[in-house]
Amino acid sequence: MMIKISERLNSLVKYIHSEDKVMDVGCDHAILDIYLVQTGTLRTIYVGDVNPNALANGKENIEKYELGSNIFPILSYGIEKINEIDVDTIVISGMGSKNIIDILSSPNLDRVFKLVLQSNNNHNDLRRFLASKNFRIFAEEIIEDGKKTYVNILAGRDSVAVSYTDKELEFGPLLIVNPDNLIYFEKLLRSYERIYYASHSEDTRKKITYLEEIIENLKKGID
Ligand SMILES: C[S@@+](CC[C@H](N)C(=O)[O-])C[C@H]1O[C@@H](n2cnc3c(N)ncnc32)[C@H](O)[C@@H]1O
Repeated sequence: MMIKISERLNSLVKYIHSEDKVMDVGCDHAILDIYLVQTGTLRTIYVGDVNPNALANGKENIEKYELGSNIFPILSYGIEKINEIDVDTIVISGMGSKNIIDILSSPNLDRVFKLVLQSNNNHNDLRRFLASKNFRIFAEEIIEDGKKTYVNILAGRDSVAVSYTDKELEFGPLLIVNPDNLIYFEKLLRSYERIYYASHSEDTRKKITYLEEIIENLKKGID
């Protein structure tokens, strides 16, 4: 029996390949992980959660789908235990950027070459953090799920310094050049305009200017 997976989680599957040695940090029910094994994307995967109850949900599902020889649960805070296992790729999904940054701010990040991240807020902070650790963004995608907007980020460690402009950090170096995102940016512009109307903040004004430029460029690309 195949496990049911949400569109949000399914959107991450394409970033994970058979050669990756993966740990899914904050796995909770381990749905993504079970799906990755069932579909043959991965033969084995480590899954971790800091909350014993959440990990118990994962273990229950792993047993239910009889994947105990393929999926290995670990009770752990973030990536603190990856020095004990063979892992080069970290998946973190369904969390805010602050938590993701906290998890990745570990000396064990040195062991990681690939990150598959899905954050539901403060995407600019996450991009800044990734650049500061020399992780380059290779793919970026907006996922609307109910009232929440997630950004999927595929990032890889680079040997040369990674730097982005302020506009790219704010709105995503790859998102701002993808015409599929025009409607998203138009919606964002309207919400920043409402904020500016109420606050007259200089920071919001700057974001509005960036968004106007992004929308103009995307429209030029479309025409
Ligand atoms: C909202 S759930 C997301 C579950 C799943 N990744 C998804 O995308 O549906 C967040 C999970 O991350 C776990 N978590 C939060 N902070 C963590 C940390 N520092 N280390 C490990 N797990 C963490 C929580 O216990 C919870 O089970």
